[in-house]
Amino acid sequence: MTARHFLLDTDLTSAEQAGILDVADQLKARRRDPGPADRPLAGRSVALLFEKPSTRTRLSFDVGVAELGGHPIVIDATTSHLGRGETIEDTAAVLSRYVDAIVVRTFAQQRLERLAAAASVPVVNALSDHAHPCQALADLQTIRERRGRLAGLTLTYLGDGNNVAHSLLLAGALAGMRVHVASPPGYEPFEQVVRHANEIGATTGGEALVMHDALEAAAGADVLYTDVWASMGQEDESDSRSLVFQPYRLDEKAVEAARPDVLVMHCLPAHRDLEIAASVLDGPHSVVFDQAENRLHAQKALLSLLLAPPSTGAGTAAG
Ligand code: CP
Ligand code: NVA
Repeated sequence: MTARHFLLDTDLTSAEQAGILDVADQLKARRRDPGPADRPLAGRSVALLFEKPSTRTRLSFDVGVAELGGHPIVIDATTSHLGRGETIEDTAAVLSRYVDAIVVRTFAQQRLERLAAAASVPVVNALSDHAHPCQALADLQTIRERRGRLAGLTLTYLGDGNNVAHSLLLAGALAGMRVHVASPPGYEPFEQVVRHANEIGATTGGEALVMHDALEAAAGADVLYTDVWASMGQEDESDSRSLVFQPYRLDEKAVEAARPDVLVMHCLPAHRDLEIAASVLDGPHSVVFDQAENRLHAQKALLSLLLAPPSTGAGTAAG
């Protein structure tokens, strides 16, 4: 049987996504009083492979695998032979002989796909240049626990139309949300992702829209979201991007344009008074640390699904 991977948000159906959010809520509620069914990874190991820095993803997967009863092993390119030229395919084949799943943070989506093609165990995207699907699961969990639903809500993302925006577009569409992305010209999300989100939205009630006016995009939003202006690997562009992205800062004006009960979100790490005003990040609408916490619960639910025995369906492995 081929392994079940999670490389992109759309590797889950809408029903599976909802099932994962349900299990994530259950795992969160009984985290300090887990039962035997909450340790589906007992006797199993998961490799956590990082080719870029991480605080939240690395820690939440490490703790999450351990809480599911499994053994997490963190490796990175600099301290493994990946950094000395061993191929991603050979690395995938070798790791597959030792571990039951591989969680990977890397650059190109194609590198992730090559790794998954050569692996015989599930591979999870822990962020690529193209997508950040584990982040989006935690974000949906955070919105749903605050608002009680996802379908019909409007999430407005201000800033760079790259990995986090792509995942919000796709995961939001699966959940029936309207996702508006306001980016400077030249930094919009990929057209192919927007088209895919709208195709999904046609069946779920969701909608994907790309705009260039931040305040117009923020008007009436249920959720305002932003991310760094220079992603990992783009550090050389920090100065030029700071100029281009100025009109897209998530500030008090954007909050005033949105609904009075708007949720303010950021995947973190954040730069106060660059992509987000400090008063907004630290203000009453902000749920950024709930998002960070929910990485743990959502990823535990995801691993429970991906590593469930074949006969066990979504939402049942740890539920
Ligand atoms: N949000 C997020 O993925 O954070 P890290 O880069 O710290 O993992
Ligand atoms: N877009 C950011 C997300 C960090 C979690 C990056 O890729 O660096």
